[in-house]
This record gives sequence, C-alpha cells and structure tokens, in this order.
Amino acid sequence: MNKITKYITLSSVMLLLILSDVAMAQSHSDTANELTNIFRAARKVVSVNQAHINDASIGDKGLSADVVANKTKANFKEATGKALKVNTDAKKAMIRAVKDVMDENQDLINEPDIGLKGFLPAIFARQVANKFTSHMNGKMKIKLTAPKKYVRNRANRPDKWEANIIESLFKKADYVKGKAFSENTKYKGKNVFRFILPEYYGKSCLSCHGKPKGARDITGGKKEGGVLGELGGAISLVIY
Ligand code: HEC
Repeated sequence: MNKITKYITLSSVMLLLILSDVAMAQSHSDTANELTNIFRAARKVVSVNQAHINDASIGDKGLSADVVANKTKANFKEATGKALKVNTDAKKAMIRAVKDVMDENQDLINEPDIGLKGFLPAIFARQVANKFTSHMNGKMKIKLTAPKKYVRNRANRPDKWEANIIESLFKKADYVKGKAFSENTKYKGKNVFRFILPEYYGKSCLSCHGKPKGARDITGGKKEGGVLGELGGAISLVIY
C-alpha cells in the first residue's frame, strides 16, 4: 500500500467508527426518549386518578394492571403524537414493570373506607423504576431523582453526575426548558450512555412541594417551598 491508499483506508475506518458511534448514540437517545415517555405516561395515570384512588367511598378503583397499561399507552400517544409500539425488550420491561406494580398494589388501592393511601405518583414511579431496572438485568437502569435540596426519599438522591447536570446545566437561566441531556460517560467503571430529563413543578405539585417551606403536606411530609415552573425533579436513565 502506498502512503495515500494507507491514509485513505485509515481515514475511512476512522470515519466509519465515528459514524457508528454517532448512530449508536442516536439510537440510545431514541430509546431513552421513548422509555422516559412511557414512564411519565404511566405516572400520569396515577396523578390523574389521585382523588379517585384516595376516595374512601369506593372499593374497587378499576385500576387493574391492564387498565393502567392501556391508559399509559393512551397518555403516551397524547404526549408524543405516536402510538406506542411495545416491540423491544426495554419497552416490554417497562410495561411489565407498570403492570407488576399495579398488581402488587391492588389490595392497597382498593381498600374501602380509607382515604389517603400513600399511593402517590412519585412512589408509584420509584416502584416502577426498581422493577424495570431489575427486569433489565444490568442492561439499563432508570430512576426518578430531584435537586439535592428537594429530595425527600434518600433512595432518590442524585448521584454526582446527576447532581452536576441538575445544578450546573438545568438550573441555568437560559437552559431550554424540558430539554434532556445525554452523554457517553463512565458509570461505576463502565462505559455507558447516560440520559437525564428535567421536570418542573406544575400547579398540582405545589399542595405538597410548594410554600410555605417546612409546613406539613397531606402526606405528613415537609413542603419544599417550591414555586410554579421551578425545576423539581429529573428522570435519569443509564444504558450499559
Ligand atoms: C400528595 C402530595 C404530593 C403531590 C401532589 C406531589 N408529590 Fe412529589 N412527592 C411526594 C412525596 C411524599 C414524595 C416522596 C416519595 C417517596 O417516598 O418516594 C415525593 C417525591 C417526589 C419526587 C422524587 C424525589 C424525592 O423527593 O424523593 C419528585 C421528583 C416529585 N415528588 C415531583 C413531583 C411533581 C413534579 C409533582 C406534580 C406533578 C408532585 N411531585 C406531586 C408528595 C407529593
């Protein structure tokens, strides 16, 4: 091989490597977007039905695993404009996680004569996240987290990477609202793709997370003192 052929061959190989890296990152991004959308669509079923779940006058709430899975799909379509195709292991694992959590909570949510049951969107989300992560068996991990000063449940604490993105990127005044951040990085010594999506307090969140700071909410927890539109949480996904 002369010098030029060698150079061209080498450059082509490098270009291919770069392109395949870019393609891989793109497909990971698509996967992460879809999975976090399903996760949020499922959690929305719980928030929309919160008053119904807490209604002491009703026994059976009609929120079986299948019903919630179907409502999740409807919410997904409403949010993304696309029908949800449950055609990958990860998407199957997410829907299975939603169904498992609903199955396990039927007795709790259908208990008659009890109002507040502690079956809240964030608690549902944490249970779904744990199930999904365990179904994926080391291939992916999802987690609901929050800015450090707002974390109620220690299990939801942001790790260093998450805290750094939340504090130094998501909280910047000019950061595009709702935009996810992702990068190829190291996680516990492994090369991974990480993705994190910011979430903000809406009106419905403030009865528990709003003002006055430190006052008790209906769950008995302490309010954060958050305000409308403020960064209140983030969904974080690791793809190994
Ligand atoms: C009825 C009260 C209530 C409402 C309404 C509520 N939350 Fe929460 N939220 C809680 C409680 C309690 C926890 C702790 C859950 C746990 O123990 O895992 C929590 C946890 C969270 C977390 C996880 C981080 C942490 O603090 O552990 C996020 C993020 C969050 N809430 C965001 C929201 C958003 C966004 C909304 C509105 C869409 C909302 N919450 C509405 C009570 C509430």
